[in-house]
Amino acid sequence: MSGFSADWLTLREPYDLRARNPTVLDAVAAALKPRSSIRVVDLASGTGSTLRALNPHLPARQNWTLIDNDLDLLTRATATPLAKDVSVIAVPLDLNSELEAALDRAVDLVTISALLDLVSDTWLERLAGAVAARSIPLYAALSYDGRAGLTPSDPFDSAIFAEVNAHQLTDKGFGPALGPAAAAFAIARLEALGYSVVQGTSDWVMRPDDRDMQTEILAGWASAALDMGGLPFTDVTAWLKRRRDAAATERSSLHVGHVDFFATPSATR
Ligand SMILES: C[S@@+](CC[C@H](N)C(=O)[O-])C[C@H]1O[C@@H](n2cnc3c(N)ncnc32)[C@H](O)[C@@H]1O
Repeated sequence: MSGFSADWLTLREPYDLRARNPTVLDAVAAALKPRSSIRVVDLASGTGSTLRALNPHLPARQNWTLIDNDLDLLTRATATPLAKDVSVIAVPLDLNSELEAALDRAVDLVTISALLDLVSDTWLERLAGAVAARSIPLYAALSYDGRAGLTPSDPFDSAIFAEVNAHQLTDKGFGPALGPAAAAFAIARLEALGYSVVQGTSDWVMRPDDRDMQTEILAGWASAALDMGGLPFTDVTAWLKRRRDAAATERSSLHVGHVDFFATPSATR
């Protein structure tokens, strides 16, 4: 399963939905409730997880523009069954080179999820500047914040986490990524531009019976550790086998720290 495959995004969606911070969601709903209709641009939409998560919290008449550079994911996203007052269009764009073009349309809310930790400080500056120039509120969900843990612990866990967090800082197509520092950086930039921010944690919590999700996360962590090249292959694969055995026999719990935030400009359009 690749990082952004439809299968992976489908597997993680219920965990994302469960994790989304309710106080932040309430702030989004309260800010937009007075509108009779709303136009949303979802950046890096994938299969439409944010559309499905946010749809029930917004005014009934909604127009969504989903933006991604993966046509297969966009096609799946637009197949989401929705109420008759909700329309969705897909716009394929490369958000690294065409971020500003993505926002050059009538828009009342910009959303983004599971992306900020993959991008650079330069790109986050651009995002903050672009939404501020247009006075648009921004809902950003599920940014990894560097906290992760496994139960029961394994003597090799900390070595793996160190490599995973180092991998977080590698270039994912938007310049060297800020990884765990991304959400705090974005919030600071937006506040400097006059935005008010409501934020809260949105951690993944995997119980022992969440076997498939744990297995995928563990494989992803092992792969990231191997990519970094700092640990012996045999040690990483032996760790992965121990952890997968524990997950397969429902002896493993796992958590991953995320941050959600909603940023509103002092004067909303
Ligand atoms: C981790 S997924 C998150 C998807 C979705 N927001 C969610 O929460 O399920 C990251 C998404 O970013 C998209 N993406 C990555 N690089 C991109 C780029 N340069 N331009 C547009 N989309 C990009 C991927 O195709 C993928 O859909």
